Amino acid sequence: MCGIVAYLGTKEAYPIVMKGLQRLEYRGYDSAGIALINNGLHVYKKAGKVSDLAEFTKDKDVAGSVGMGHTRWATHGEPNDRNAHPHYSESKNFAIIHNGIIENYASIKAELINRGHHFSSDTDTEVLIHLIEDISNNLNVDLQEAVRLALGEVVGAYAIVIMSRLEPRKLIAARKGSPIVIGIGQDEYFVASDATPIVEYTKNVVYLNDGEMAIIGNGDFTVKTIDNQIKVPYVQELEMQLEMLEKGGYEHFMLKEIYEQPRSIWDSMRGRIDARSRRLRLGGVGDFENKFVNAKRIIIVGCGTSWHAGLVGEYLIEDLARIPVEVEYASEFRYRNPIINEEDVVIAISQSGETADTLAAIELAKSKGATIFGVCNVVGSSIPRATHAGAYTHAGPEIGVASTKAFTAQVTVLTLLALQIAWKKGTITDSRFQTLLSELESIPEKVTRALDANDEIRQLAAKFKDARNFLYLGRGYGFPVALEGALKLKEISYIHAEGYPAAEMKHGPIALIDEEMPVVVIATKNSSYEKVVSNIQEVKARKGIIIAIVTEGDEEVRKIADHVLEIPETDELLIPLVSVVPLQLLSYHIAVMRGCNVDQPRNLAKSVTVE
Ligand code: G6P
Repeated sequence: MCGIVAYLGTKEAYPIVMKGLQRLEYRGYDSAGIALINNGLHVYKKAGKVSDLAEFTKDKDVAGSVGMGHTRWATHGEPNDRNAHPHYSESKNFAIIHNGIIENYASIKAELINRGHHFSSDTDTEVLIHLIEDISNNLNVDLQEAVRLALGEVVGAYAIVIMSRLEPRKLIAARKGSPIVIGIGQDEYFVASDATPIVEYTKNVVYLNDGEMAIIGNGDFTVKTIDNQIKVPYVQELEMQLEMLEKGGYEHFMLKEIYEQPRSIWDSMRGRIDARSRRLRLGGVGDFENKFVNAKRIIIVGCGTSWHAGLVGEYLIEDLARIPVEVEYASEFRYRNPIINEEDVVIAISQSGETADTLAAIELAKSKGATIFGVCNVVGSSIPRATHAGAYTHAGPEIGVASTKAFTAQVTVLTLLALQIAWKKGTITDSRFQTLLSELESIPEKVTRALDANDEIRQLAAKFKDARNFLYLGRGYGFPVALEGALKLKEISYIHAEGYPAAEMKHGPIALIDEEMPVVVIATKNSSYEKVVSNIQEVKARKGIIIAIVTEGDEEVRKIADHVLEIPETDELLIPLVSVVPLQLLSYHIAVMRGCNVDQPRNLAKSVTVE
C-alpha cells in the first residue's frame, strides 16, 4: 500500500506529482504529502485525501521542477498530519517517501535517539531518513552512497524516493519488496509505484528489480544494486493507454469496470484460442505444461477476491483435469508449515501482483521446489517476476478498490488453463472441450445481457439500502459467487454480509433469518438447482426475503422468491462469470445510495503490500 510518485525535469513538478498522486490514491488515502525543491526543500502534508492536500497547498509556493509525493495507507502511526509523508531528516536537508515497512526501525531509532536525533512522527519511515543523514555526516559520503549504506542496515520492505537540498537536481529511488517504475521522457524522469502516473508523459519505462537503486540526475540515470554493482536498465514500452485510467463518462471507476467486463473477459481470451485448430495456447504454460499434467496436486494461493477466483479455479481444474486442488489464503499458507514438494504446482492469483502475503507464499513454495504459475493483472509487477511462468489476465488497469473485472478475467484465465490441462491429460472429450470453448466465447455477450438489468437492480437496491445484514447463498459453482457477492457488499456499503454454501445455512446462519434478512441466492439452472430451490423454501419458511439470481425464463423460483434477477443461460462451469455481474451492480447501487465512497472505501487499499 501507499503510492509514491516523483518528478525531475524541466516542467513544474507540482501539477505532475499531484495528478500522479490522484492516480495512485487507490493504494491508500489516509494522508497525502509533497516535497519540492525550490531554493530549499519544502514539505507540505496533510491527513486525508489528495484533494485535502490540494486545498492545503492552494496558497503555498509550490514552484520547482524536482518534486515527490506520497499517498498513505497507515501502518506505523495513526493517519494524521505528523505521520504523513514526506519525512525530513534531522537537519531537514533530506526528505523521503516510502511504501513498505522497516521492520527493525525500533532498534535503529533507539540508537539514533542516543546520538541526539529528534523524531517528529511515529513512523518507521522517518527513522530511515535520519539514518541516511547520520551515515552521510559520519562517513562524509554523498547522498547515493549514504542511501546505499543505510539500506544495507534495514530489514523490511521498501520502495523509497529521497531528495536532498544539498544535491537539488537528484532523485534516489530504491526498491525491495515494493514496486518502483521509472519513466524516461525527454529531459525528464518520473518515478512511481506503478505506471499510471507516468503513461501520460512517456511510454518508456524501467521496472526496478528488488535490491536495486536508481540515481536520477540531470540528463541521465544509473541503476545499481545495493551491493554496489552497476546494472544495465532494461527499457520497456508501456502497453497502457491513458483513457484506461479515466472514468470515461461513468460516475465511478467501479461502475466503469463492471461495464468493461464484456471487453476485459474477451481480452483475457484474445490470442489464446486458435481460431482454425480450435486449440488453446496459453503462452506461459508452454514449457511447464508437463508439470501441470504430471502434478499430483495443485495449490492455489491468493487473497480477497483473488482467493474467490481461486475457489472457482479449484472446481474447474478438478472437474475438467481431475487433479486434486487446494485453495489457500496466502496469509495462512505462508505461516502454517504446509507440505509442499517438487511435484506440486502452485497457482498464485493476484490482480495487483504486489500482495505481500501472496508473494511470501510464492517464496515459501519455491523454496520447497514447487513450480509456481502466476495469474496476475498488472504487467511487470512483483508476482509475475517471482513466478516460473504465468498468464496475465489482460483486464486493463483496475482502479476501483473493490475488484470486479479482475475477478472475471481471473476466472476466464483459470477456465482456459483447466481446459488446456484437461485436453493435454485426456480427461475431456473433444466434443465437451469444443462446447466449453464456444460457450466461453459467448460469455462477453452474455455479460452484456446481464448488464442490461442495471435499472432493475438499481430499483432493487433502493429497497434494501438500509438493511443491516445480508446473506448470500450458493452451491457448487454458485458458492464462490456467493462469497464474492458478500465481499463486494461489505467492502463498499459497510453492510454486514456473509457468503455461505446454501446447504450449510442450516448449520448456523439459519438462526439469523427473520423478516428483515435479505438472502441473495444463486439459483441458476445447474446440477444443484432443485437443492437450491429447497434451500430457498427453508428461508421462506422463516420469513426471510429472497433475492434470487435465476436463469432466463425460470418459473419455479420466480413463484417463491420475493425478487428475481435473470441472467442468460450458460454452461454450469461458466456460471460464475455471468452470475457475479448482478451482484456487483447490486453492491454498487446500494453503496451509492448509502452515500459511500465507492471507489475508495474506508480502511481498504487496492494493493496490500504489508502482511
Ligand atoms: C485487497 C483488495 C481486494 C483484493 C485483495 C487481493 O484487499 O482490496 O480487492 O482482492 O487485496 O489483491 P490482489 O491484488 O492480490 O488480487
